[in-house]
Amino acid sequence: MNLMAKNWVAIGSLQDIPPQGARCVEHGDTTIAVFRTHDNRVFAMEDKCPHKNGPLSQGIVHDNCVTCPLHNWVINLETGLAQGADDGATATFPVKLEGEMIYLSVEF
Ligand code: FES
Repeated sequence: MNLMAKNWVAIGSLQDIPPQGARCVEHGDTTIAVFRTHDNRVFAMEDKCPHKNGPLSQGIVHDNCVTCPLHNWVINLETGLAQGADDGATATFPVKLEGEMIYLSVEF
């Protein structure tokens, strides 16, 4: 996470996202998926798989990765990088938890 990020915007509570699931936030033309891990960490990245734009928000979260629902590429939630032999990256966004509130940093 980029600790120098600015423009923190509250986007909802941790309880709004199911464990190992995601919730989407619209930002202009971009859909940002905010993920919750089994141990209540949060990550944010564009809801677009680097393979063929699959909706990562509908994938399975495991450890600090999400598996795309379309063709099972595994994307690292911290870096946005495809894992293993697959090659590509999804844009990530700074996100933080303060208590139960989730804050996202994007340029508005
Ligand atoms: S679109 Fe995600 S694995 Fe193909």
